[in-house]
Amino acid sequence: MTRKAKGEGWKAEGEARKAEGERLLPPSDFRLPPSACRPGEFPVTFQPGDKTVYVLAGTRLQEAATAADLILDAPCGGEGTCGKCRVIVSEGAPPATPEEQSLLTGEELRAGCRLACQAVVEGPMGVLVPATSLVNRPYQILVDSQTAVQADGPPVVSKHYLDLPAPDRGDDAPDLERLEHSLGPLDADLSLIRELPQRLRTASFQGTAVLDAGRFDGGAPGGYPLVGAGRRLIDFESGNTEWDSYGVAIDLGTTTLVAALLDLATGREVRIASRLNPQTRFGDDVLSRILLARTKPDGLEQLRRAVVQDLDAMIGELCDASGILRRRVYTVTLAGNTTMQQLFCGIDPSPLGEVPFVPAMRRGFCFAAADVGLEVHPRGSVYVLPIIGAFVGGDIAAGILATGLGESGGPTLLIDIGTNGEIVLASEGRLTATSTAAGPAFEGARIAQGMRASHGAIEKVVIDDRVRIHIIGHVPPTGLCGSALIDATAELLRHGVLSPQGRFCTRDELPAEVPPEVAGRIEQCGQHAAFVLADGVSHGGGKKVALTQRDVREVQLASGAIRAGIELLLKQHGLRPADLDRVLLAGGFGNYIRRSNAQRIGLLPPEIAHHKIRYQGNTSLAGARLASLSLRCREACEALAARTEHVDLSLDPLFSTAFAEAMIFPER
Ligand code: FES
Repeated sequence: MTRKAKGEGWKAEGEARKAEGERLLPPSDFRLPPSACRPGEFPVTFQPGDKTVYVLAGTRLQEAATAADLILDAPCGGEGTCGKCRVIVSEGAPPATPEEQSLLTGEELRAGCRLACQAVVEGPMGVLVPATSLVNRPYQILVDSQTAVQADGPPVVSKHYLDLPAPDRGDDAPDLERLEHSLGPLDADLSLIRELPQRLRTASFQGTAVLDAGRFDGGAPGGYPLVGAGRRLIDFESGNTEWDSYGVAIDLGTTTLVAALLDLATGREVRIASRLNPQTRFGDDVLSRILLARTKPDGLEQLRRAVVQDLDAMIGELCDASGILRRRVYTVTLAGNTTMQQLFCGIDPSPLGEVPFVPAMRRGFCFAAADVGLEVHPRGSVYVLPIIGAFVGGDIAAGILATGLGESGGPTLLIDIGTNGEIVLASEGRLTATSTAAGPAFEGARIAQGMRASHGAIEKVVIDDRVRIHIIGHVPPTGLCGSALIDATAELLRHGVLSPQGRFCTRDELPAEVPPEVAGRIEQCGQHAAFVLADGVSHGGGKKVALTQRDVREVQLASGAIRAGIELLLKQHGLRPADLDRVLLAGGFGNYIRRSNAQRIGLLPPEIAHHKIRYQGNTSLAGARLASLSLRCREACEALAARTEHVDLSLDPLFSTAFAEAMIFPER
């Protein structure tokens, strides 16, 4: 997908929102508080929160909002084409930019509505941020995971309590050798060798040696080093601290961050934390972030710093809440898609954004946590999982590890549905992976009233003799998220309100058996029809929320891309959908969709029996957890990623036909 095409899609969506007459109006009593500030700066006061920040003239409102801890939705990466960062400027509204004039109605502009990514601070301002423009509201993040694999074998980090003989006239062995007599050959860096003499003597030669068996050089060519080789002594702690040993496993998603604090001595998960990826304020998808890193001089550093700061804060919160010292965290293991991993490491992702889409490296690598700015043990390490290709990253390698896909008996599919649909097929010992550009429709972008799965999102739709909806947080509805998008489309197909081509029937064309309550929900919206899911009165009021004809087209595109990927992978293995033993659904979105509705719209092949489709939870986190605990699992993950064939569907001549066919909804 080119950047231009993406921008056009969002622009169309923004225009659709304008055409559909979305209105934002300020409260009449909104006023700036009195304040003082330094020369060249102006106060900007944000509601909700009544927070004032002082920014230089020329600062964009989006940046000022971030300083006030209000993270605004920015699916288009601040290009002024999606219209989702709307705010109301009650005082000091700047003149509207051409982008604002094109996306906002005259009435909205007169009422002070502006796009935060376009409006610039030119004087004191008062700004109201509607809940619909915020990303940091309560959000449904998948943290549960299941593993089919044991974290067995030698640990990554081990601690050994030692009662060493103190040196005397008959024993002048150097300090490090004294430890090696008990533990075998060790590596140690200069900073520890400097500290070791005093550490040993302060502890009267009784203490706990901390060893890290991960390697800093990324492993031997062709794979991770042999178990036990290259063990680094990273500390000698006073007393017996063998049971005080922790690691953090991280799922670094495009949209969300999940971190699990692990007890390395027992393998137990102590605590888990999650939050939105702060990079979402720079754009919803990886392409927006690649573009920012490529075009803005400090773009890469901005992106890197944003995510590292939040991960560091999460580690701090996990430790504080568990009563654990940060210096007892010795290893951090991280799984994410290829772009997210590179951004975290501060590696320029530009080559991932242009043909032939080249990642910086394939195998996993290990480096000092201090090098990226994570505050754990001063000699703690970070291990970033291996990737399979530019668009099949460490999160999928982690998923293959955690689900035991490499040892699958019968043909098995692993599907992770997000902005990209990543698909891995295991059959007869062969692993093949691909990625399809499903687009962000299932995450709410490009859908007229789409939103992420947060408070106010309709997340479930059932249509029988009437329309029933479930809203996250039991609050009035403000939009619909991906699972509701699939439900609504499937239900409307089932009732014959949508044709297999994805066109809404007019009221005259509706089958006779469509209940009147359902038929009455079809509305004409300009030249196209729309189906009203929430009328703005029931469910405690809220917004009128509808599924539009354009939304259905986006569902067809997203679902068709993933289905075409599934069909072509199966074809490459000489298989049909009915031959599959299991289909494993992974990732934050996959675990919230309803299987029958995913099959009804053709996202999953209808031939697959329900019991074969299983929810696997957050397999990225599950794999990162295994690789935190066990060196054998790290080795296995490296080997699995290396042996997985990466298929580029854009090179398959059958893809466009398969995609076109998959966009037609199945007849029933
Ligand atoms: Fe898309 Fe502002 S218009 S982020």
